[in-house]
Amino acid sequence: MTRPSTLITNIGELTTVDPARGADGVLRNAAVVMEGERISWLGPAADAPDADSRFDAEGRALLPGWVDSHTHLVFAGDRTAEFEARMAGQDYAAGGIAVTVAATRDASDYDLTRLLLGRAAEAVAGGTTYLETKTGYGLSVEQEARSARIASTVADQVTYLGAHLVPAGLDADEYTDLVCGGMLAAVRPYVQWADVFCERGAFTEAQSRRVLAACRDAGLGLRVHGNQLGEGPGVQLAVEFAAASVDHVNYLTDDDVDALAGTWAGWDAGGGTGESGTVATCLPACDLSTRQPLAPGRRLLDAGAEIALASNCNPGTSYTSSMNYCVATAVLQMGLSVHEAVRAATYGGALALGRHRGADEDGLRAVGSIAVGHRADLHLLNAPSATHLAYRPGMPLTAAVWRAGERAV
Ligand code: NIG
Repeated sequence: MTRPSTLITNIGELTTVDPARGADGVLRNAAVVMEGERISWLGPAADAPDADSRFDAEGRALLPGWVDSHTHLVFAGDRTAEFEARMAGQDYAAGGIAVTVAATRDASDYDLTRLLLGRAAEAVAGGTTYLETKTGYGLSVEQEARSARIASTVADQVTYLGAHLVPAGLDADEYTDLVCGGMLAAVRPYVQWADVFCERGAFTEAQSRRVLAACRDAGLGLRVHGNQLGEGPGVQLAVEFAAASVDHVNYLTDDDVDALAGTWAGWDAGGGTGESGTVATCLPACDLSTRQPLAPGRRLLDAGAEIALASNCNPGTSYTSSMNYCVATAVLQMGLSVHEAVRAATYGGALALGRHRGADEDGLRAVGSIAVGHRADLHLLNAPSATHLAYRPGMPLTAAVWRAGERAV
């Protein structure tokens, strides 16, 4: 069956983020053809083939859709008061999670789904075309399984975060047993990844190690929330367990940075080939909302690590899914170039989710870069270049979005 094709032409600046095209991967006066859900052609606009329909980009900039590899969107309730207290000088503490757990447990399936759909729609409206989200506000067998099931109906990938906080009144080691046992079995049908909040006030190194081992043995990919509130064992654990990402990474020792860079020793960043390592996922919106030092993205890149930028949209520490904002902050305050920030928010997220390459045998297409055969996830800016994301921060720059070849915005 032939699939309808769409030609997007008159693209002033096409940022492919395709490693096969070299460091910058930018084409000018370009065109892209989508056939069904995939990209079937790209190149100079003058050479573009015919297609069933045509979209004139009017000289504007086209990028891959954002890949948001870290969000917590399955929740109910409100934490405005906690945010206000923080802005008045109080420190962020992991305990605030319990407030959201109570509200989430009280919400009906209908309300939780409606809230999740609304948040996912906001993300797409901001240019996000591939979305991970986590459980972690249920924290009982039944409630975590419910969150995972609901998440799996909306998000592209779901992460099990039963190890987010030890619920009040429970023994931490006994709760960890549950996370590694009955709770894991209950969520398993709905999730691809497992995560652990390895931090003071959350899970210790020993408990985190048990969670990671059990989830690995259950066939899940691994990620770690680490080094958010201070130096700690999160990064080294992530490296030891060959986690796909370690997220937050605000407080890093030189050994942490070296360890992360070392995981990329067998990787050819230029060609996007070889064995990928542990991505350091930086969450600048969270850092600003918690008044933590921004994650050292520049230092990580200079050391040879791969980084991702993600929104960490959640009610406690980062109530925004705006990747445009994250990219602008990474450029303005973390010392990244525009291209580095765009790459981290697209290809970096795909690396963190294991979707930088296609796996045609199971029908999964690569996301996070624009190349023939990749999923047609595209983000058209109301601007002539990607530089405007940082040059005009806070402006409504998302003009159009295609998700798997379908116009979404
Ligand atoms: O990524 N760090 C742990 N989890 C979230 C915070 C969740 C919350 O406070 O509700 C985070 O920042």
